[in-house]
Formats: sequence, structure tokens, C-alpha cells
Amino acid sequence: MAGSPPHSSDHFPATPRPSEGVARFYADTESDLETVSELLRAGELVALPTETVYGLAADALNPAACARIFTVKGRPLIDPLIVHVAGKEAARELAFWSEEAESVATAFWPGPLTIVLRKRAIVPDLITAGRPSVALRSPEHPLAREVLRRCRCPLAAPSANPFGYLSPTEAHHVRDSLGDQVTHILDGGPCRWGVESTIVDLQEPVTPRILRPGAITAEDLEAVLGRPVTTVTKATDTPEAPGMLERHYSPQTPLCLFSWDAPHLPPTGNRARVYLKKPEGSSPVGREDFWLSENGSLKEAARHLYALLRRLDRMGFGLIEVEKAPDEGIGRAYNDRLRRAAAKR
Ligand code: TXA
Ligand code: MG
Repeated sequence: MAGSPPHSSDHFPATPRPSEGVARFYADTESDLETVSELLRAGELVALPTETVYGLAADALNPAACARIFTVKGRPLIDPLIVHVAGKEAARELAFWSEEAESVATAFWPGPLTIVLRKRAIVPDLITAGRPSVALRSPEHPLAREVLRRCRCPLAAPSANPFGYLSPTEAHHVRDSLGDQVTHILDGGPCRWGVESTIVDLQEPVTPRILRPGAITAEDLEAVLGRPVTTVTKATDTPEAPGMLERHYSPQTPLCLFSWDAPHLPPTGNRARVYLKKPEGSSPVGREDFWLSENGSLKEAARHLYALLRRLDRMGFGLIEVEKAPDEGIGRAYNDRLRRAAAKR
């Protein structure tokens, strides 16, 4: 399948056959897009592609439909959902808009940026977990945009995975981990970014804060806002975004990080090593060696990360070691997710 991670070809399994379920896949045809939009309007759940990861969507103004998202994911009710909108106009109906929100939305929407603002009464409390704020994002993926246009309602959509597990970046990942609990999956191909959106809290416009790093960096936001943007890194007892939980985004197999400048240790025991870049020259490539990009591109590595971890998770390794990225650009989001995946159970 296009977008599959590069790998040591002899020792990489073919994409596993998805288990037989009742899940139906839809494509980008006129009739399929109309069907899934109609299903969403009728209160059904549909897994949708976005440019970051696949989301499990429901009509955000229908609390009964949104309640099923929590059940299907096994997600605690204290973890609020991101609401996806077609654009700024729809966002203004859900939140108290501000000059700062206008600037960043103009610069980065549609795209991988979620903005947290004070919510309006129309947003169900279930979605915001009783908070006074709502998280809003206008996705860029053409199929997500087309569905938003057709169903004419905001769509609540967390990543379409069991709570705490790796986010799906290809349509079949949704069925692989949520099984037949999700009956409608719109296939939009592999996701372009492969890590979840940046979340920026703009409730206090003077002190904007990144709650979760993503493709849009602090520097990108600072350039538009003209003021410093801090990044919240510490998980607290009452996390502001459970994506900030110390352990999250984790495969079942224990995972740890290693540094690019660490010596290449010979593998001991039953462990996989995942490099950012295809190992060169004389370094031997073993059955346990995998890589996320041919040339060390951080964008490519981030795009392939979850898909490769999902595959390795099925191969029975005792440990997965993944190379840290430089702390720059999308590398920060990549490192953030890996640190959480590696956190102790
Ligand atoms: O890229 C993405 O953001 C993907 C795609 C599907 O859009 N969605 C996603 O959703 O990653 P989810 O639910 O897996 O992560 C959303 C994060 C959670 O950590 C949640 O706590 C946080 O957003 N969040 C939602 N509403 C919030 C709010 N009002 N204040 C602070 N954090 C919020
Ligand atoms: Mg998630």
C-alpha cells in the first residue's frame, strides 16, 4: 500500500489481513460521500480521514451520538473531544472568537492546528467534559472537508483508536484496533502528517500555550501572534489534555528511545530497532532493524511512525527501541509522542 514505511524488506511482514468484521469501507465517490454525510446527520459514527490521523466522527450537536464515541473508544468522560468545523464562520458559532484566533486561523486553517477557546452554550457539555472551553479544528483533508460541507454540522472527532493506543494513519488501522464496533469507515488513504494536530490554548490571549505539539510549531505561532508561545510539557494530576497524560499513544509492546549519537549496540534478545534514517555503509542490517525514512526526513519519519509501530506490535518483539529525533519542527511532536509511548505503565 502506498505510504507504507520503508523497512528491511526480507523481514517485514505484509500488511496483516484485517480481521473479518462488519465494518464497511467507503471511497471518495459522490454516492459514498453522500451516504456517510447522511449517516452522520442521522446520528451514526463514521471514521474519517484527516491530514493528521483518522478521526471517529459524530454530529457535535447530538449528545447521544457523541456519547457513543466515548463508549467505542473506552475513553473516560473527563477527556474532551475536538470539534471539526468547515472554517472560521462555523467556529464563531461555537466559541467566543478573538483577534488572536482570527490571526492563527487565517494563517493555519484548514490544517493541523486545534484552537482552544471559551465555548458558547450551544456546545454540549459532554463534548467539553464540562469545561468552559472548546477545542476547534478545521481539517485540510479534502474528504473531511467534503463531508463537513455536505453534512452541514460540526463534527466531534477524537482519533479513531482505543483510548491510550496509537492513532490510526490508514483506514484499515481503524478496523484493526476498533474491530466491528465501527461500522462506517471512509478511506482517504494514508494521512499526510501522521501525528495529531498541534493544540494551542488561546483562552488567555496574552499567554498562548501549546498543550500538545504538532506540525504547527511554537515558532510558527509566535511569528503570527507576535508574542512568546510556551509549551506545556508536564502532565499534572488533572491534565488539561489527556493527550498530555504521561503514558499515551502506546503500543502493547514495551518501547524505549535511543539517541542518534548513541553507539550502535548489537541487538540483544528479542528487540526491534527503529532508525529515523536507513542505516548506511558498513553497518549491518539485521532482522530486527527498521527505518522510518530513506534519507532522514523528519516529516517522512513522523508520517510513518504509527503505522510501523502498529506492525511491530504484532510481531512479538519483547522491546521496541526507537531513535529520537532532533528537537526541531515536527521532530518535537514525534519525540513527544514517543516519550509518552515509552512512559512506564
Ligand atoms: O489531529 C487531531 O487533532 C486528531 C484528528 C482526528 O483531528 N484528533 C485528535 O483527537 O487527536 P484526540 O481526542 O485523540 O485528542 C484530542 C486532545 C485530547 O488530549 C483532549 O484532552 C484535548 O484534545 N482537548 C479537547 N478539548 C479540549 C479543551 N477544551 N481543552 C484542552 N484540551 C482539550
Ligand atoms: Mg487520541
